Amino acid sequence: MKSCIVTGGAGFIGSHIVDRFIAKGYRVAVIDNLSTGKRSNVNPRAAFFKLDIQSPKVSGVFAKFKPRFVFHFAAQIDVRKSVADPVEDAKTNIVGSLNILEQCRRQHVRKIIFASSGGTIYGDASVVPTKETYPGNPMSPYGIAKYAVEHYLWYYWHVFQLPFVSLRLANIYGPRQNSKGEAGVIAIFTDAMLAGKQPVISGTGKQTRDFVFAADVVAAAMRAIAPKRIGVYNVGTAKETDINRIFSLLKRLTKSQVKKVYGEAKKGEQTRSCLSFGKIRKEMGWRPSYELHKGLQETVEWFKK
Ligand SMILES: NC(=O)c1ccc[n+]([C@@H]2O[C@H](COP(=O)([O-])OP(=O)(O)OC[C@H]3O[C@@H](n4cnc5c(N)ncnc54)[C@H](O)[C@@H]3O)[C@@H](O)[C@H]2O)c1
Repeated sequence: MKSCIVTGGAGFIGSHIVDRFIAKGYRVAVIDNLSTGKRSNVNPRAAFFKLDIQSPKVSGVFAKFKPRFVFHFAAQIDVRKSVADPVEDAKTNIVGSLNILEQCRRQHVRKIIFASSGGTIYGDASVVPTKETYPGNPMSPYGIAKYAVEHYLWYYWHVFQLPFVSLRLANIYGPRQNSKGEAGVIAIFTDAMLAGKQPVISGTGKQTRDFVFAADVVAAAMRAIAPKRIGVYNVGTAKETDINRIFSLLKRLTKSQVKKVYGEAKKGEQTRSCLSFGKIRKEMGWRPSYELHKGLQETVEWFKK
């Protein structure tokens, strides 16, 4: 039976990937320390290992499962935490990733698919929508760690012929996103509005993001396992939406009465982020299928439940 390992498989995106591969008949193992993920997100048909990706015990899971593919989605995902404690961020996001890469090399994994960050790797790019050829210029330890792991991925490919795809993901939203953390403005606003609480827009709300729906990210991860494709690929919609508009759309969908309230701008926050998806469309035939409004509707319905 074909098998795969999903790190971060108890989290938002990772758990959707687990579901999809189980539906495709794979044996799936999840490695997750449940720092932000939930045990209840994990598909009951997956084997679950509560482990930190830095742990030497990870090798036992790899030896047992002999995965064909590894989806490396576990990470410390909070940009602000990475700024406050870059050492802790690097332990998970760089050293932990290296531990996973070493296991992939030893077990001759056919491909590793890495969750990189198109929203932070380019910094405040002067060309929007931004292509993969735009120089990397991450402005946070979180973005630097993602960029560093991409360099390791190239190294493992050149030196050990470990195939990889790094998906430079835009701002993802959808069912199961954690509304308690810092990432995920849509989850945070939706949860607050449905609970009758006041969400706060940071800064002017004119900062833009590229919002991609979770199901579209899963579809990109499915395509990424194709053997011929190696390298980095943006996964976004090439559409910019500002936070004020997200607020208005969610207000309508949740039938909330809240008014726009503005708080302090986050220090060093990017003003624009928007990704070209031309490369992944051309080479893998992927394109976003969810319009923002439809994705938001599904997200609100999920949060209502
Ligand atoms: N959500 C987004 O908008 C977005 C955008 C770009 C990239 N990404 C990347 O996608 C991946 C998944 O993000 P998400 O939004 O689903 O976040 P998430 O927090 O829901 O998922 C991350 C998972 O990793 C686990 N984890 C964290 N540290 C770990 C460790 N040291 N050992 C084992 N498990 C650990 C958490 O418990 C959680 O289940 C991350 O790598 C993130 O950087 C997310």
